[in-house]
Amino acid sequence: MRIERARGTRDFLPDELRKRRLMEERIRTITERWGYEEIRTPTFERAELFTLKSGQEILKEMYEFEDKSGRHLALRPELTAPVIRLYLNALKMSPKPTKVYYFGNCFRYEEPQKARYREFWQFGTEIIGTDTAEAQAELIALAFTILTALGIEAELHVGHVGLIREVLREKPLTEEEINTVMRLIDKDQRDAVIALLTERNVTRQDIDKLLYLIDLTGRDALQEALDRELITAASAAVRELEQLLEILGYYGIPYILNLGIARGLDYYTGMVFEIYEAGGKLGAQNQLCGGGSYRLAALFGGDDVPSTGFAFGFDRLAEIYTVPAAALTRQRVIVVPVRRDPADREVVREAIRIASLLRAFVPTHIDLMTRSISAQLKYANALSSSFAVMVGTDELREGVVTLRNLSTGEQERLSVEACVARIKNYCNLFELADKPAYKPEVREEA
Ligand code: HAM
Repeated sequence: MRIERARGTRDFLPDELRKRRLMEERIRTITERWGYEEIRTPTFERAELFTLKSGQEILKEMYEFEDKSGRHLALRPELTAPVIRLYLNALKMSPKPTKVYYFGNCFRYEEPQKARYREFWQFGTEIIGTDTAEAQAELIALAFTILTALGIEAELHVGHVGLIREVLREKPLTEEEINTVMRLIDKDQRDAVIALLTERNVTRQDIDKLLYLIDLTGRDALQEALDRELITAASAAVRELEQLLEILGYYGIPYILNLGIARGLDYYTGMVFEIYEAGGKLGAQNQLCGGGSYRLAALFGGDDVPSTGFAFGFDRLAEIYTVPAAALTRQRVIVVPVRRDPADREVVREAIRIASLLRAFVPTHIDLMTRSISAQLKYANALSSSFAVMVGTDELREGVVTLRNLSTGEQERLSVEACVARIKNYCNLFELADKPAYKPEVREEA
């Protein structure tokens, strides 16, 4: 019987993983330079952590189960709720604002398609303790800087859920129904929005006004919404958004104002943003990053702490990220014990000693199958090794090795120390060429 992978999951082969690792390192480096520190939470949590705010509806998308003691648990569909739980458990006394980041797998029972998986990875950051315009702008700028550093063409959309929520609160709707409308807007299911509001006796004129509002994008969107009296100038959301846009201008980040961003999760209270891939490489699932301001701490039994955060869909970034070719080529060395007969232990001992010296700085293989020299060298070529270090009885007696450059075929006899130094020097040169220093790009204001 052949056992297949579970639907919506993936295996990762060495080249793909190396690319992901390089990407992760770049993102981490930038995030830490902006002053964020890493945390990690468990892969599964008590299910109510996720259902408390989002309602039972999220259960449809969650991998939830009972453990052997009857506890209701869930594989995390996202990391913001776990991070706030961790904050209340362990970081409440930390200096404010508390700035953290995380990288972890998430699970959602969604219909798999290109760039949408049932197990996927998020790289995210949260600022806990404030949601000022400065905090919001810092996060948006950080997300944008990361994409720029990865060479990914992206389009940033900024909005505020308060605008739509304020309009909906004037209608005869419960908070749960408002959340449902927000989710429908997020999924662009307009017919369902119209049906729900009509059923709740919202007039067709008011429904049309709402649909007009969520379609507004571009620099003048806010002004047009005010001019058409879709929203009121007294609205706190309008003021917050204006402040944010001003500070985003200081960062010089190009953005598109989009009043229709509703976000799929219920906990957002203020600014929201989404970043889409702009090169047309991802198809329908082109949202690379989503985030915004939210309140969750009070719901989990803490004080009402304002927070702001975002998460990248790491797999979507990996799908479009092009790694510099040099970074994918690995240096490898093989140590070849040249045995007179299979029982020749002395050369094996020396080969192991040399391999240990090399393993301090370069991936090194050593024969594990008692093979002939030609079979070992064939293996070295198949692995694209750069060097073979050959040790035989004669070499052992003279205290030397034979170093063969596998790309040129040249070889020379030299002492073990000289051989190790030679390979180290070569690898260092390669490493330097491989790692161009990260230079943040200073942008002109758009
Ligand atoms: P989200 O928009 O649900 O937000 O997810 C963030 C990102 O994860 C999305 O923009 C997308 O790139 C990626 N993503 C979501 N679902 C999938 C999937 N099935 N397959 C592949 N990638 C996916 C959140 O999860 C919030 N916790 C973000 C946040 C942090 N808000 C505040 N702080």
